[in-house]
Order: sequence, then C-alpha cells, then structure tokens
Amino acid sequence: MKSALITGVTGQDGPYLAQLLISKGYKVFGTFRRVSTPNFWRLQALGIIDKITLIPADLTDMASLLEAVTISNPDEIYNLAAQSFVESSFDQPLLTADVDGSSTTKFLEIIRHLKKDIKFYQASTSELYGTVVESPQNEKTPFVPNSPYAAAKLYAFHISRIYRHSYGIFATNGILFNHESPLRGLEFVTRKISNAVARIKLGLQNDLLLGNIEAKRDWGYAPEYVEGMWRILQHDKPEDFVIATGETHSVKEFLEAAFSEMSLNWEDYVKTDKNLMRPMDVPLLCGDASKVKEKLGWEPQTKFKELVSIMVKSDLEKWKKHLAGEMFPWDAPNFAGDRAFIKRRN
Ligand code: NAP
Ligand code: GDD
Repeated sequence: MKSALITGVTGQDGPYLAQLLISKGYKVFGTFRRVSTPNFWRLQALGIIDKITLIPADLTDMASLLEAVTISNPDEIYNLAAQSFVESSFDQPLLTADVDGSSTTKFLEIIRHLKKDIKFYQASTSELYGTVVESPQNEKTPFVPNSPYAAAKLYAFHISRIYRHSYGIFATNGILFNHESPLRGLEFVTRKISNAVARIKLGLQNDLLLGNIEAKRDWGYAPEYVEGMWRILQHDKPEDFVIATGETHSVKEFLEAAFSEMSLNWEDYVKTDKNLMRPMDVPLLCGDASKVKEKLGWEPQTKFKELVSIMVKSDLEKWKKHLAGEMFPWDAPNFAGDRAFIKRRN
C-alpha cells in the first residue's frame, strides 16, 4: 500500500486530495497545526476525518516536519500548507516568506538526507505570473510576482527545481490557477460572494463590500485540480505543469452569475471599498493547460457558470439548515466578516 503525507490537510485542497488518495487505496497522513479552536470541519464535512492519520506539525518548525516524515514514511509528499491569502502576505510578509518559501527547502533537505526516492509535490501558483507578460500563461511564461506571497512561492518553485536537478530528487511544481469549491475559505473572493448572496437571499445581510472587481481570474473546480496534483506525481519523470481551465472571468462576472443564480441584481447590493484594494494586484490570469492535457491526460470538466452555481447553492443550503436549527461542521457562523473592526496598514 502506498502512503502519502499531505501538509495543510485542514485547508481547501487537502481534504479533497485526501479523499482522492483514500479512494485509490493510499494510507493517508495529514499535518495540522495547533490552533486555539479546532478547525477540522472540512475533513468532517467530507466524512474522512477517521480515515486519515493526523500529525501535528508547523511549517516553521523543522523538528515537527522531520517527525511527520518519519511517522508517515511516505512514498509521496504533497506540500499544500501555506499562508495562502495574498492580501495577508502584505500584512505578514516575513511569516509568509518563511511558511511559503523556506519550508519547502526544509522538506527537500529531509528528503535529501532521509530517503531520496520520496516524490515531492510543491503547491506552486499562477500568482507567480503577476504582471502577466503574455496570455494565456504556460510553463514557459516568465514570472513577475506582485505580492510577498508570490515572491515566497517563487523561491519555493525554484528551490524545488534546483533540488530536482542538483540531487535527482523527484520534486515537481503544480502551477495551479485559482480553484474554488464549497470548502473554499471565506476570505477568498468567490466564497465571500457565494456566502453573501446566500445570506442576502435569506434576509441575513444587506450588502457586500468588495475591492477590485475588475480583476480577472481563471477559476476552476478544486476537486478536479487535486486529481491533477496526483497525476503530476504519477508521471515517469519530475516536471512542472500548469493546471487551469483556459477561461478568464472578472470578479464582476462572478458577481453577475452568483446574484442571478438567486434572481437578484448584484448592482443593488455591492459596494466597493478602497480599503479592500491591495497595494499591488494581479490584473488578469488565464492559463494554458495544454501540457498537462497532452502528457497526463488531465482536463477540467466544470465550467464557470456551473462552479458559481455549485458554490451559491451550497451556501444557501447551509444557511437554510442553520436557520432550521441543524448542527453540522461548517465555517461561516464563526467568521468575523469584513473589516468594520479590522485595521490594516497605514
Ligand atoms: P488553504 O485553504 O488556505 O489551506 C492552507 C493550509 O495550510 C491549511 O491547512 C492551514 O492550516 C495550513 N497552514 C497554514 N500555515 C501553516 C503553517 N505555518 N504550518 C502548517 N500548516 C499551515 O489553501 P488551499 O486553497 O487549500 O491551497 C493549497 C495550496 O495550494 C496552498 O499552498 C496555496 O498557496 C496553493 N494554491 C492554491 C490555489 C487556490 O486557488 N486554492 C491556487 C494555487 C496555489 P489551518 O487550517 O490551521 O489554517
Ligand atoms: N479576497 C478578496 N476579497 N478579493 C477581492 C475582493 C475582496 O473583497 N474584492 C476584489 N477582490 C479581488 C482581488 O483583489 C483579486 O484580484 C481577486 O479578487 C481574487 O482574489 P482572491 O480570491 O483573494 O484570490 P487570489 O487570486 O488573490 O489568490 C488565490 O489564487 C492564487 C492562484 O492564482 C489564492 O488561492 C492563492 O493562494 C493562489 O495562489
């Protein structure tokens, strides 16, 4: 039986990947970090919390990573853990550099010293393209990062490539474009919108504050993207791959689709707030996933409108159940919401 170690198993992608690997007969280990309030709701929502082995570890603590690798003795490591919110990387640039950058070297060093044949997947990102120099973006498009998050991830991208070539480690980068789902964190724009639309429909919220609604993203469906991660590690040699839909839509288009799903007009509810604008943003992302299609047979299935519909319907169902008094694992009731009492940057 193959075994896999997933870092960041409490996030959006970790549980979907764990579910996929369990279905393929893997023994799955996942790292979680100590927090003051347990946050296993996604693993509970997918019904897999009892099917994986959880190991406490923090990416800033090398000893805990060594322990995680020793306990799990994995054939494959999926390094998904990260400070993944671009906006927070402007608030906490040094933490982001450590967690999203240096921690990758910690894993690569562990592999180099312990067991060189562990296959390593690094969660790289389309955010690396930043000020895009060509469209669509593929594996050869230059990286021009626009955030401390992207700068840290750029380091991680290159260190993986460097260890691959220097030490023959099976280290790969999945350059994944934005991918969303009902398990998406509430701070990201798609889930912020789907959650707000559900609440507005049910009379629980009156308006929605957003930042740059002209930004364009290539949004795909997370459960399909984790299949791409797995395929990257099953390839006969370590290579880097773009995973994307090839379609781009603005935040405004997401708003139109989400509100019209509930027969509402977004312009009646949405306001923009300059406090929600980033010091630098990525204006447009659109991926070219032809390499992964050709070499690994991976293709996206879920189209933009369907993705929006899945997310809005899921949030609506959850709020309805909540109002009916049902108890189930879920994040939204605990969310502090937007900035009224949060002060960022001078
Ligand atoms: P996510 O929902 O934010 O999950 C991040 C995970 O990392 C959580 O389990 C979090 O733990 C954990 N984590 C954060 N800091 C940590 C630390 N210091 N030590 C240990 N664990 C830590 O992110 P995601 O959407 O699943 O994305 C997975 C990965 O893919 C990330 O590396 C992200 O940067 C990258 N990526 C994501 C996308 C996307 O569109 N989703 C696209 C490209 C790349 P807590 O639950 O305790 O916070
Ligand atoms: N979060 C958020 N909140 N974003 C907003 C808002 C808002 O109120 N208003 C406008 N936006 C814009 C952002 O400025 C950005 O241009 C776009 O919506 C998407 O923002 P996010 O959903 O926060 O995602 P992201 O693109 O910055 O980052 C995500 O995708 C990357 C891959 O390209 C994250 O998952 C990263 O971890 C990932 O690497």
